[in-house]
Amino acid sequence: MARAPKSHRVTIVNTRQVIDCTADQTILEAAIAAGIDYPYACATGNCGTCTSRLEHGKVTLLPRGDASLSAQQIKAGQTLACRAQPRSDLTVSWLSGAER
Ligand code: FES
Repeated sequence: MARAPKSHRVTIVNTRQVIDCTADQTILEAAIAAGIDYPYACATGNCGTCTSRLEHGKVTLLPRGDASLSAQQIKAGQTLACRAQPRSDLTVSWLSGAER
């Protein structure tokens, strides 16, 4: 029997919700599955709509468009929810628009 992928606790600051996100899921996928109206457009790492601040924890970023997240943004602690898979429990807040 295949083992379930490791799951991490993801705190979404904007909605004050804590959700489970498996290591092979993106933060965006887990948020949508949990019914959270997380801002996104392309879901493929090309538009930057899902840009989020990683306030705590570690992620791995899947391949993405060069223009969607700059090296400076990564240095500043930003990430793309549609490309970020958790590597620890973490806390994120999305930067796009107002709380929905
Ligand atoms: S939704 Fe477009 S970069 Fe994440």
